[in-house]
Amino acid sequence: MANNNESIHGSWRNRWTFILAATGSAVGLGNIWKFPYITGEYGGGAFVLVYLMCIALVGIPVMMAEVAMGRRGRQSPINSMKALVSEAKAGPGWKLIGWMGALAGFLILSFYSVVAGWSLSYVLKMATGVFTEVDQTVAGDQFNGLLADPSMLMVWHTIFMILTVGVVIRGVNKGIESTITVLMPLLFVLLVILIGYGASKGDIMSAVDFMFAADFSKLSMEAVLVALGHSFFTLSLGMGAIMAYGSYMPRNASIASTVFTVAGLDTLVALLAGLAIFPIVFANGLEPSAGPGLMFVTLPFTFGQMPGGQFFGALFFILVAFAAWSSAISLIEPATAWAVERFKVSRAKACTLIGVIIWALGIGSVLSFNDWSEFHLLPGKTIFDTFDFMTANVMLPLGGLLIALFVGFGMKYHHAYNEMNMKNAGLFNLWYIVLRFVTPVAIAIVFINGLLPECS
Ligand code: PHE
Ligand code: NA
Repeated sequence: MANNNESIHGSWRNRWTFILAATGSAVGLGNIWKFPYITGEYGGGAFVLVYLMCIALVGIPVMMAEVAMGRRGRQSPINSMKALVSEAKAGPGWKLIGWMGALAGFLILSFYSVVAGWSLSYVLKMATGVFTEVDQTVAGDQFNGLLADPSMLMVWHTIFMILTVGVVIRGVNKGIESTITVLMPLLFVLLVILIGYGASKGDIMSAVDFMFAADFSKLSMEAVLVALGHSFFTLSLGMGAIMAYGSYMPRNASIASTVFTVAGLDTLVALLAGLAIFPIVFANGLEPSAGPGLMFVTLPFTFGQMPGGQFFGALFFILVAFAAWSSAISLIEPATAWAVERFKVSRAKACTLIGVIIWALGIGSVLSFNDWSEFHLLPGKTIFDTFDFMTANVMLPLGGLLIALFVGFGMKYHHAYNEMNMKNAGLFNLWYIVLRFVTPVAIAIVFINGLLPECS
């Protein structure tokens, strides 16, 4: 394979641009919305500890592998897999990685966009003072009212999909790069402000206690599966987003150090989000296990009590929407790049068509909260719940397992070695061993114990 060629879709200007784009992909609703509520649902500290272990032993090694595969393949994930499989003279079955990943991207974005739409709608609610000095019940009623209104949900879902397609049509590099350079630090600053508020007004010690005091007796096998699944979801792994972004990465950039940066920032934002939300939960006697509504009830309520809360609350949800936006872009990019390569059509055509399909799939998630709330695709799970469960807890970890096995056993050792280009051969070997043995075994054990009982 010609290793110095560039992707036809473009290249990041330098390694920082890759870090920015990958962090934009990683940091999203998974950190700010999902992590706090699943931590609440699965009991806190022990869950957080398992999640952190999954990031270290599974997430980071797989992320390095996925970036390396993309950079070596230099095409959309589906076609990169084709190229890598033929270079390694490996079996055609490995191509499943590319196809399953594209499917996962469709399913994830279809419900992700609906939740991102909630935050768009909250920008308006906050800015118009809907939450100013209201009590908790009103905050809860606002959220339930939104969920009960399918046409409102559709409007925001549609706007968010248009925003996403609008960027990817113009190519990922330029438009988004400059935007997230400004927005990511701003998001970070706002989280810190909220923690400051939580520390002064809320019950931060019980939040720290809840998040870091590990009581393993509360830990179910299902919780471990959710922690593993979330480590993939939050790092955007196992579906090709990071592979696509890796395919635009300069050849001389170090994969290992960039991956550590991205994973570190993502983990930091998740923990900060938890530290921003739980103090409010405990100080106001709310339930930590409140589910998907946690962020949409606790935070607006808090902002409503703060001086300037109308402004800062609106700003916060704008930033949540932007974080979601930069993730959504990476969810639609792999399929778009593939369609451009495969059908030789313009990016505009390819991306618009894919966007319309995902938008239509999203209708199922919109209706999951109202008209179709009794319709279950899996036992006890609405369409929204099913897409979330199947992608995060099945498809992404399975994709990650296959990626680890492919780089560990499918690819030639010296190809993996060259692509990683690590100065320290000992560190390379440590990664290689973890990827070949620790990561796959860990995923397999969690699958067998967490998924099989679920199925029976
Ligand atoms: N990592 C994103 C988040 O945490 C979600 C995502 C998953 C993005 C998979 C791309 C691919 O919100
Ligand atoms: Na994330």
